Amino acid sequence: MGKTRVGILTAGGDSPGLNATIRGFGKAAINHHGMEIIGFLDGVRGLANNNYRELGSSDLSGILTLGGTLLGTSRDKVHKMNIDGEVKDMRQTIVENYEKDGLSALVMLGGGGTAKNALRLADAGLNVVHLPKTIDNDIAMTDTTFGFATATEIATEAIDRLHSTAHSHHRIILTEIMGHRAGWLALASGIAGGADIILLPEIPYSVESVVETIRLRMSRGSTFSVVAVAEGARDKSDSADLAAAQLLVDSASNPEAERAARTHLANVVDAQREHTFKLARQLEAATGLESRVSILGYVQRGGTPCAADRLLASRLGTAAAQCVADGVFNVMVAARGDGTEPVPLKDVAGKVKMVPPDHDWLETARQLGTGLGD
Ligand code: F6P
Repeated sequence: MGKTRVGILTAGGDSPGLNATIRGFGKAAINHHGMEIIGFLDGVRGLANNNYRELGSSDLSGILTLGGTLLGTSRDKVHKMNIDGEVKDMRQTIVENYEKDGLSALVMLGGGGTAKNALRLADAGLNVVHLPKTIDNDIAMTDTTFGFATATEIATEAIDRLHSTAHSHHRIILTEIMGHRAGWLALASGIAGGADIILLPEIPYSVESVVETIRLRMSRGSTFSVVAVAEGARDKSDSADLAAAQLLVDSASNPEAERAARTHLANVVDAQREHTFKLARQLEAATGLESRVSILGYVQRGGTPCAADRLLASRLGTAAAQCVADGVFNVMVAARGDGTEPVPLKDVAGKVKMVPPDHDWLETARQLGTGLGD
């Protein structure tokens, strides 16, 4: 009997720790379990095009500390892929390629979109193991995701540095932090960096409340403030508009209504794109303090993973190899305490882990006197 042959791919937005996870999986799969592995290039697009490279032990050396992904990535959907300008369902082609390549399993490293693709492929008959990657930390059923710890370090350092310049110039500096629709990254780095105000998508803010926190600080002699703004944070009115537009999409009863609702949602999102700049103008007008915006952007996703992410990546990668060896499929390997646990993909796909209103970190922030805009 030949060796068990397994495919691996990285999908969605890149994130520190992808290469460390490929290494963790590959070393355990090849050296410990005696498997063969191939790496599909550019996410599920590589699966659809059957574009892959064999991965041997030497390919796994020296990649632990590398940012990005040696396999490349994309944000494609397996059931709606743009192929030469045409949107196609590539599931059947992928199943055929998987069989042609002699695979026993497919390991998919990615975030929420990848969990959905993983479930679609599991439903199509593939043996899939998903590993939770994202700087946003918004994947259900896992304690955390690889990439989040590194992004938290980067955003925290940025907040540290913004403090000294805000202090010197007596300014308000708003820093926009990634996280998509969830506030984990802004909350964690805001607390770790000592931001004076933290604004999250989960807590629509009132500008008056933010102004009040800044005025209170001014009355105590602090003529500067650092505001950590999650990219998904909105004031109460924008948040209501966004929710209403999303509801129209979710409740559309036919394709035409859905198209119109999606166009409306895109317009609302577009109109709110500059929300952090708008808030800066509002704060400057209300407090008289000069206000500036610093958008951290993609630096949060780039570069070397921190030690915590390398450890997590190694734990998840090796656990995925164990799942394949044990025939445990159609699961996401969750981080659970010091260990890992396979959880059914159907309990993960389509769910977003938001910061719950009673989360301990919110209480920590409140007790520190950090304004949350509510
Ligand atoms: O999911 C990771 C993330 O960096 C989010 O924080 C952000 O909203 C999004 O990806 C940006 O996506 P893109 O890489 O497509 O611009």
